[in-house]
Amino acid sequence: MAQIKFFGSENMPLEMHKVRIIQKLNLPPIDDRLTSITEAGNNTFLLKNRNVFLDMLTDSGTNAMSDKQLAAMMTADDSYAGSETFFRLEAKIQEIFGTKYFLPAHQGRACESLIAQVLVTHPGQVVPMNYHFTTTKAHISRMGGGIEEIIVDEGLVAQSDENFKGNMNIDVLKKMIAENKSKIAFVRLEAGTNLIGGQPISMANIREVSQICRQAGVYLVFDASLLADNLYFIKTREAAYENTPIVDIMREIGALADVLYFSARKLGCARGGGICLHNDDLMMKFRELIPLYEGFLTYGGMSVREMEALTVGLDETLDMDMIAQAPQFIGHMVDKFTAAGIPVVTPAGGLGCHINAMEFLSHIPQERYPAGALAAALYIISGVRGMERGTLSEQRNPDGTEPLAHMELVRLALPRRVFTLSQVEYVVDRVKWLYQNRELIGGLKFTEEPKILRFFFGRLAPDSDWQTKLVAKFKEDFGDSL
Ligand SMILES: Cc1ncc(COP(=O)(O)O)c(C=O)c1O
Repeated sequence: MAQIKFFGSENMPLEMHKVRIIQKLNLPPIDDRLTSITEAGNNTFLLKNRNVFLDMLTDSGTNAMSDKQLAAMMTADDSYAGSETFFRLEAKIQEIFGTKYFLPAHQGRACESLIAQVLVTHPGQVVPMNYHFTTTKAHISRMGGGIEEIIVDEGLVAQSDENFKGNMNIDVLKKMIAENKSKIAFVRLEAGTNLIGGQPISMANIREVSQICRQAGVYLVFDASLLADNLYFIKTREAAYENTPIVDIMREIGALADVLYFSARKLGCARGGGICLHNDDLMMKFRELIPLYEGFLTYGGMSVREMEALTVGLDETLDMDMIAQAPQFIGHMVDKFTAAGIPVVTPAGGLGCHINAMEFLSHIPQERYPAGALAAALYIISGVRGMERGTLSEQRNPDGTEPLAHMELVRLALPRRVFTLSQVEYVVDRVKWLYQNRELIGGLKFTEEPKILRFFFGRLAPDSDWQTKLVAKFKEDFGDSL
């Protein structure tokens, strides 16, 4: 995919797959979209998919499966215990990560719950990480622990040309270990850092962090949920790995981590998850919890059909054509936005194209949730569902104060192999229109605020009649177009 150059002047990402099963889409008229977002409390999580045109909320469980994955589902061995399906999956995981044990779980956050239960042993412990993910932080907090984000400075600079903005700050890690090692529950590295624009971590950084942890006797936990995109960036941005087979990179990561876990809703394009380990004692501690929370050890809450699809999906992760597709589409969107002067996170990361709402809507204070407002506005004018990744996605402090996020992003996720380039062009077009009319967009305020993971179910209302004005301007410019 990456090697194909066009005769014309513009290079474009070219899909190395064809579409053989399709699903009809619906684009409701703008008045209906305004009603839908109002009914959803201005929270794109609460929209009904039947009212969404392009669902760019997430790649979680929404990646397109291949013909081989679907075919493999038919070969699943239905059995509560000792299913052949499990042993095929276990063998694939041992092959690609080189780990000794695989403990299945129903999805990524289930792994996080187990990891927090086993490794956060007393309140007040801290988990240094390159950056937090919502559910990771919630599980560590639930066990009485805290997190410390020690990302490199560039990680929080929205527009940058640093290739590996997901890297951990090595000096800070060393300092934390030197000053208070006993307080550290474990160190966590996240591939393709979700909340700061899908930014990758380099192999050099993973290796250095691992060496420091091993020397200090601190466990290194690696979240591989977004590893597919990160592998693509290691191959294309880290010169030493340009010619290294993808499987060798995965095995190296497997060897550098003590515990590696993943959401199979992302990695492997199926639904499920699991924990991979080398250490016998750790394995025994985790193993006790699997039948209690997940299911028997040979399925862990996953359906055997999904497990078969996952085995094939993991194998397909070794194919550069497969892992290049989403990052190249995202790169295309980022280039188009940048050319139009629209603020997006650069360099292009994985997972999705991330609009920098702090700059896009610089007239809206963070307390009025610019990224949430932009996600609502974009749905109204296009039927495109993105996700707020900013202050709304943060949790209140124990004293009730609201931490303001480092970044206010709207993520337009590109589930793998799902959207066509013309659909991507439609999104670009509508965002351009919205940028020209950004002064019309106002803020949001909570009408219902849940205590935990408030972004999932929280309900908000516009702080003025800005949405009605936005609809009126859309009709003025687009007439009777949907
Ligand atoms: C980096 C990362 N870790 C963990 C998770 C949690 O996985 P799941 O949604 O399967 O529970 C996600 C999900 O988005 C993620 O992006």
